[in-house]
Amino acid sequence: MTVIQGIVEHGDERGRTLGFPTANIQLFDNQAEDGVWAAVIRTDSGKPWLAAVSIGRRQTFYAQTGNKLLEAHLLDFNDDLYGRQLTVTLTAKLRDQQTFSTINALTEQLHHDVTATRNWAQQHYRWLVSPGSHENGAAIWPLPRTLAAAQ
Ligand SMILES: Cc1cc2nc3c(=O)[nH]c(=O)nc-3n(C[C@H](O)[C@H](O)[C@H](O)COP(=O)(O)O)c2cc1C
Repeated sequence: MTVIQGIVEHGDERGRTLGFPTANIQLFDNQAEDGVWAAVIRTDSGKPWLAAVSIGRRQTFYAQTGNKLLEAHLLDFNDDLYGRQLTVTLTAKLRDQQTFSTINALTEQLHHDVTATRNWAQQHYRWLVSPGSHENGAAIWPLPRTLAAAQ
């Protein structure tokens, strides 16, 4: 599994208007494989979160000229992460980067990516947590409401 550490920088803020705010980290060209991933992210406070992560150059907006970026949409999270250090573990590749012909098509796909990330967590998160690894024995990340209800 690929692990990436970096400091969150300001993006174009477009994600916020799409309803998918992202924490952005600049990457070197060969630092990680392009694609969309289900990921586990630890903030510098050590707290883990589930995220849908895009690695690429936002080809819908910048052709292939954009900077290589890691963009993380943390699920059920709405705090400010600018300037904070994140440790991102790419756990499962969901798909390749795509060029979308409309913003709506991109947004629709982002919804699918978030669903796929939740589904992945539902199947696998128990195996990622070693007993006692979390201070108070709580789940590794804040559980999606549907999961929490099922427990
Ligand atoms: C889960 C996820 C998947 C993404 N997939 C793609 C993609 O396939 N193609 C693309 O051009 N951009 C993709 N993006 C990047 C979005 O275009 C980008 O987040 C959006 O334009 C906002 O960018 P900004 O925060 O820099 O403003 C993805 C972003 C996320 C969070």
